[in-house]
Amino acid sequence: MIDQIYRKAVLTVSGQKFVENIVRKQGWGLAQRFVAGEEVEGAIAAVKELDAEGIQGNLDLLGEFVASPEKANEFAEKVLHLLDAAHAAGVMPYASVKLSAVGQGQTVDGQDLGLTNGRRIVGKAREYGGFICLDMEDHPRVDQTLSQFRTLAEEFGTQHVGTVLQSYLYRTEADRDSLDDLSPNLRIVKGAYLEPESVAMPDKADVDASYRKLVYAHMKAGNYVNIGTHDESIIEDVKHFALAHGIEKDAYEFQMLYGVRRDLQKELAAAGYRVRAYIPYGRDWYPYFSRRIAERPANVMFILKGMLKG
Ligand code: FDA
Repeated sequence: MIDQIYRKAVLTVSGQKFVENIVRKQGWGLAQRFVAGEEVEGAIAAVKELDAEGIQGNLDLLGEFVASPEKANEFAEKVLHLLDAAHAAGVMPYASVKLSAVGQGQTVDGQDLGLTNGRRIVGKAREYGGFICLDMEDHPRVDQTLSQFRTLAEEFGTQHVGTVLQSYLYRTEADRDSLDDLSPNLRIVKGAYLEPESVAMPDKADVDASYRKLVYAHMKAGNYVNIGTHDESIIEDVKHFALAHGIEKDAYEFQMLYGVRRDLQKELAAAGYRVRAYIPYGRDWYPYFSRRIAERPANVMFILKGMLKG
């Protein structure tokens, strides 16, 4: 409950325009702990650095909901450029995309623009043997994201597109069941948005229990699972569950955020587990940065200390 109150407080404060203005002005130096750069070159350099430690990359051009088709298309072009740049640099074009940033919810020529741009992006990833994970956003977008994921998976194959399920939502167990026929590659996370209690579990213990249940169900169904968490006790339990059920290490991977628990990332990779770091980059870093701060009280101290230093 305390976690929930803290998270709500940080996300509410960070949503205030004057706070955003101050942090945007002074915060880039601090944001670099979680963000690999403002341009694609920085992100690709980060992938190569991690690769030397046996950790793979998941590139993410930062950006969230855009209100105009022009902006959405502009963003989609940048994602296509990212895939080209990764391919040209000899890096696996594995990226995450928020459909709201490429036009989800905007109708152009009778089609949802998020889906149209999703097709362009996943199509390009397939051309390069890459993979696109459709990030999950706040709860009003879940239905559309899951339905667009299904369309893209059927058109391009689940080896080139996956999505994310959030364990804090009451609906997620049923969502996972409903996707089983696709044998999808899913990332399971706890959920990072400020959600009402009518849709999301308020207690951390319930979110954690739901997390384990989802991962185990997806593993038992024989699907590839991306375990997107820094929670060591869950990671330990998943390792034991896999061992007990004869699930090989190449049937799942651990995913963590760039700059978070690098020690654990390295330790798991050294022990022969697949590990992938989610590597965000770009100029629109503020909302992403705010969610990372909201996840851990110590991160607020890190910000305040940094700001006091000027
Ligand atoms: P929890 O919050 O319980 O933290 C476990 C431990 O990890 C903490 O005790 C702390 O030590 C450490 N930790 C966690 N966050 C930290 C931070 N920011 N800084 C320092 N330490 C931290 N969400 C979403 O809604 N949609 C999405 O698409 C994604 N995608 C995604 C991809 C990947 C690869 C990851 C790892 C996470 C996401 N998330 C996400 C975010 C996710 O929902 C969740 O908010 C964070 O992962 C934090 O929760 P944990 O599972 O790490 O557990």
